[in-house]
Amino acid sequence: MKKTQNIKIKNLIFKNPLILASGTFSFGDKFISVVNQMGGIITKGITLQPRPGNPMPRIWETASGLLNSVGLENPGIDAFLKNILPGLAQLKTNLIVNISGNQVKDFTALAEKLSDADIDGIEINVSCPNIRETDKMLGQDPKTVFQVVSAVRRKTDKFLITKLTANFIDPLLTAQAAKDAGSDAVCLVNTLYGIALDSNTGKPMLGGIFGGLSGPAIKPFALFCVWRVASRLKIPIVGCGGICSADDVREFLHAGSSLVQIGSANLRNPYAGLEILHKLSDKNFKGGVK
Ligand SMILES: Cc1cc2nc3c(=O)[nH]c(=O)nc-3n(C[C@H](O)[C@H](O)[C@H](O)COP(=O)(O)O)c2cc1C
Repeated sequence: MKKTQNIKIKNLIFKNPLILASGTFSFGDKFISVVNQMGGIITKGITLQPRPGNPMPRIWETASGLLNSVGLENPGIDAFLKNILPGLAQLKTNLIVNISGNQVKDFTALAEKLSDADIDGIEINVSCPNIRETDKMLGQDPKTVFQVVSAVRRKTDKFLITKLTANFIDPLLTAQAAKDAGSDAVCLVNTLYGIALDSNTGKPMLGGIFGGLSGPAIKPFALFCVWRVASRLKIPIVGCGGICSADDVREFLHAGSSLVQIGSANLRNPYAGLEILHKLSDKNFKGGVK
């Protein structure tokens, strides 16, 4: 395998552009040999309080994708810091913690608790489509995105990615807000709203009724979002959505991503990231849309 080039953003060096996406590789404590060869891992989303998640079933396979309604099941920040984070100290790649909340003050408290933690960065998730307490995602309003990211930025110097949604909002507006608030990068995109019904009864297939669509079905739209923001705004972009192959990665790099995340592909094959890495060589790679 030809060596892929390092990518430096702010203070962080990524040994290759591949990052394991939040919620699709646990906390990085499994398949450690895979994790260590990636450019980074983003943990499952953490909230201030523990969350039991949504009712089952939580996953529904669709044409070229899947719907999930996990509902951010996680042990909460205190248990994460005490019981999980110490075991991740041996990781030989960038460890980025994904945080989520319902209001600005949740993010302030999470950032405060993480500010001295032994981690490489924070991904601010303002785009989870399957939290049932709130009708609206924080990431659907540029002003709220600005408030959330500013609140986190005030509490920490750590590398910040803001994970944006494209559900009923132009991500260019929210990417601008994230940039203005001091985010070091934006991730485009989180899952898209979706629902699946039993064709006979009309009953929802997911316990949480609706969920987030991911996988190859969303790739062209995710790629469009990256291209749209990259061609209008100067901020490092982490592309995400349906990436399953080295060619998919190259497409996202051409569209303007500096890094990419591999999500649902890990659920089918935990070695997907490694297999993509082996096929990827940036020796002759010249980014940009021709
Ligand atoms: C089962 C599952 C759980 C997820 N959990 C999270 C999460 O906790 N936080 C988050 O920001 N994104 C979460 N995501 C979204 C992924 O990180 C990724 O943004 C999305 O799936 C699109 O990428 P993909 O098409 O490659 O899967 C989850 C996705 C799936 C499929």
